[in-house]
Amino acid sequence: MLTIWVTGGAGFIGSHLVRHLVRQKPDCRIITIDALTYAGHLANIADVLHASNHVFLKTNIADASALREVWDSYPPDWIFHLAAESHVDRSILSPLDFVYTNVVGSVNLLEIARQRWKGHSDVLFYQVSTDEVYGSLGETGFFTESTPYNPRSPYSASKAAADHFVRAYGHTYGIPYIISNCGNNYGPYQFPEKLIPLTITHLIERKPIPVYGEGKNVRDWIYVEDHVRAILLLAERGKRGHTYLIGARNTRPNIEVVAYLCDLYDEITNTQNSRSLITYVKDRPGHDFRYAIEPSSHLFALGWAPKVSFEEGLRETLLWYLSHPEWIEAVRSEEYTQYYIQQYKERLG
Ligand code: NAD
Ligand code: DAU
Repeated sequence: MLTIWVTGGAGFIGSHLVRHLVRQKPDCRIITIDALTYAGHLANIADVLHASNHVFLKTNIADASALREVWDSYPPDWIFHLAAESHVDRSILSPLDFVYTNVVGSVNLLEIARQRWKGHSDVLFYQVSTDEVYGSLGETGFFTESTPYNPRSPYSASKAAADHFVRAYGHTYGIPYIISNCGNNYGPYQFPEKLIPLTITHLIERKPIPVYGEGKNVRDWIYVEDHVRAILLLAERGKRGHTYLIGARNTRPNIEVVAYLCDLYDEITNTQNSRSLITYVKDRPGHDFRYAIEPSSHLFALGWAPKVSFEEGLRETLLWYLSHPEWIEAVRSEEYTQYYIQQYKERLG
């Protein structure tokens, strides 16, 4: 029986991955490893939490001895590594948290893998990474597999460091690995601090919607389920030691995304003039201008293609948030309120 770890499995993308694995692989043991920080919630995986092939372990990957204990009980064949501090704005406020989890935590995992996977070739360390490691583009161009790393925020620097460690451990100790770098995910269960869920929750609560700078920064959006299908396919059939770019060729300026959501909200809820909530606020320091991904051709050769258009995905997402007020309530903690005040008080007054 294959044992599969998903670190960060109670977070946004991780929860979608865990759900697929638990359902698609009844003969595998799926182990969710998550510290349940402000961004991780058992509510995200409630529907599979008690499945017979699933085990949840509250564990901090920055704690090497705790990880060793988990390994002794549930030695993995595959590790999907998603646990991370993932929010750029928070990385600007507290960079060291990002070093502890994203760098030290990742190296802790690699260290144990190096020691315990000696002589095993049918194992896999799958590093889920970001397009932000490539830096910022101007008006034109795309990130490709050969674009050099040029991280520019504490978040992206910590993810780049982790990616480098994964490659170094693959090269030096022979750990079979795959890295995939993806753009901005959106969909159900995304913590309401990122642009799309923040906009949706503010629409519901009729609060100002903060748009940084002039709203012209461009992001490359992908529906979370399309990302997760790509990860699963690459784990099964991707080349070990390879880096893949995952994207849906869907670049949009932020203001376009926010305005579209306002109009969609008006249509679905029979409201008027939600665009009046849009509020331009002080920009993010060091704000990367544009991300755009040229997805790896090998992904398409394996038969992957994004299935969900941006319009369909945003509608699904908005409807999900509208029908899950209890989830929104449950995931917002006192810590979130403190963060929100720190991040937006001056900006929104
Ligand atoms: P998220 O913030 O929603 O979830 C992160 C999860 O990691 C949470 O459940 C949290 O509790 C857990 N975690 C944090 N620190 C931990 C620690 N020290 N030990 C154990 N668990 C810990 O993040 P997400 O958006 O789901 O992103 C998942 C991964 O995908 C991250 O590695 C991120 O860098 C990467 N990624 C995200 C996006 C995106 O748009 N969201 C895009 C590309 C790549
Ligand atoms: O590109 C992939 C990355 O996308 C992931 O690696 C990160 O984990 C994920 O958080 C995301 O990073 P961004 O910084 O692009 O996401 P965020 O949702 O925070 O911001 C998206 C854009 O919207 C960005 O240009 C900043 C802007 N923004 C964001 C917030 C929270 C606003 O204008 N107002 C806001 O209040």
